[in-house]
Amino acid sequence: MYNQNSTISYSANIVPILNTYCNSCHTYPGSGGIDLNYYTGVKNAALSGQLIHAMQHDTNYVIMPPPPAQAVDTCQRYAIRRWIIEGCPNN
Ligand code: HEC
Repeated sequence: MYNQNSTISYSANIVPILNTYCNSCHTYPGSGGIDLNYYTGVKNAALSGQLIHAMQHDTNYVIMPPPPAQAVDTCQRYAIRRWIIEGCPNN
């Protein structure tokens, strides 16, 4: 789905993932004070590491979305990681 040489787009690739899995709870003011419904909120969560760690269910991070909700799928987590590696462009 995501070509290795393509550029991830915030609006086309990242926002739909967050809308599907996160923003029912993380729209202003956002559960836990985390608002993932605007670019700066997403970037802040990305740079702190919480965004991807929560989705990957890494030790010492909250599990998001909270069980029993279905976890973000592997391909979509890959897109999020790529976007962070590319510097969280607002594109
Ligand atoms: C059903 C509601 C719900 C959904 C959906 C949800 N969250 Fe949360 N989230 C919460 C609540 C409630 C908290 C605050 C309490 C806590 O930390 O468990 C929270 C806290 C967080 C935090 C802060 C953790 C910390 O250590 O302070 C992050 C980051 C986060 N969520 C990311 C996400 C991401 C990313 C998604 C989508 C993949 C998501 N959440 C989906 C309810 C939700």
